[in-house]
Amino acid sequence: MKKDTVVLAYSGGLDTSVMVKWLMEHKGVDVITATGDLGQKKELQGVQTKAYATGAVKVYIKDLKDEFMKDYVFPSLKAGALYEQTYPMATSLGRPLLAKMLVDIARKEGATYVAHGCTGKGNDQVRFEVSVAALAPELKVLAPLREWEFKSREEEIAYARKNNITVAATVANPYSIDENLWGTAIECGVIEDPMIEPPADAYQRTVAPELAPDKPEYVEIEFANGVPVGIGGTRLDPVSLVFTLNDIAGAHGVGRIDLMENRLVGIKSREIYEAPAATVLHFAHLELERLTLDRSVFHMKNQIAAQYADLVYDGLWFSPLKSAFDAFVDETQKTVTGTVIVKLFKGGIAIAGRKSVFSLYNTNLATYTSEDTFDHKASEGFIKIFGLPVKTYHHVQQTVAAEAREEKEQQSVLQGVPVP
Ligand code: ARG
Repeated sequence: MKKDTVVLAYSGGLDTSVMVKWLMEHKGVDVITATGDLGQKKELQGVQTKAYATGAVKVYIKDLKDEFMKDYVFPSLKAGALYEQTYPMATSLGRPLLAKMLVDIARKEGATYVAHGCTGKGNDQVRFEVSVAALAPELKVLAPLREWEFKSREEEIAYARKNNITVAATVANPYSIDENLWGTAIECGVIEDPMIEPPADAYQRTVAPELAPDKPEYVEIEFANGVPVGIGGTRLDPVSLVFTLNDIAGAHGVGRIDLMENRLVGIKSREIYEAPAATVLHFAHLELERLTLDRSVFHMKNQIAAQYADLVYDGLWFSPLKSAFDAFVDETQKTVTGTVIVKLFKGGIAIAGRKSVFSLYNTNLATYTSEDTFDHKASEGFIKIFGLPVKTYHHVQQTVAAEAREEKEQQSVLQGVPVP
């Protein structure tokens, strides 16, 4: 009888390498590995050779960078989605796309299962499995990390040795790192102590702010309908633009984030992120919106930003709420076209200029000079009506209080007690 097939989300690290063999042994399946290229430079080297050497019957490596930027990262950028006002969600945004990749391959190959290497105490398992359930309810998910016998890295290495699985001979990295074009997440090791400042070696793609150039750098970013389309006057495709900006901002130490974070699975965790391009683009995009969005739209968008971020973080990418939010956000982005200049210096980012044909800033209305065209007299009537509800409220409050006081005084007079 033909064996069942599983499509495994494969990174080539220790966990997923051991997993290929473990799945064959414990589930009696053929293993197809699937690796998505989301711009994680380091991890992709040698993946194919490694996967075959470990026992995979077929190996897929898919370049998903463009799709990742256009269909996952940019929608969240337009929404202004930063989890807990801080984290640009490189990992969170990558998972639904990787889940989609698994589903596409599983369908093509007639697989029964998909598998992932996420731990039982993280958010990523939720994102993978909710996304798979949404896209392909017929597929079953295997999560070996939740059920296998290994209790430590050493036990996994021993199993790998016994089964002739080559594991990287380099000194074990003390950190757990998840990296893609939109950012890097760094966990484990000494940074699990929230009182410890991350050591220099925790950071992978940014220079320490104190070692950054002593001169600021001005970067001009052009946006069209809420998405970045050029840097310094040069048009760039999404992937090149984010690559470029990662290098520019990373060299100034911009984009380091140290966050006490609330995981979906109930744990508080201390996370270190590096997201140079994401930090600059969120900042610049918001500055452009400050210039071009109507006040009430701007305020409503801020509320949606927080909810959009929760939804992405919680793995609900393929939800009707997300589509509904996108429709709203896209409508608001019709005027988010223009140019922003940011100043990068020693880990910091500041606004240095903004312009748009849709700018709602009107110098004649804002100025305090003789060019002023604002109708000052109209303010009087406006304030009268605008303040009417609070005025009415306090009038009633004061009347009732006065009446109560009067009544109390009368009673005291009757009883011959002096009023205090
Ligand atoms: N806490 C972050 C998130 O949930 C980062 C997770 C990093 N994932 C990893 N497999 N190392 O999005």
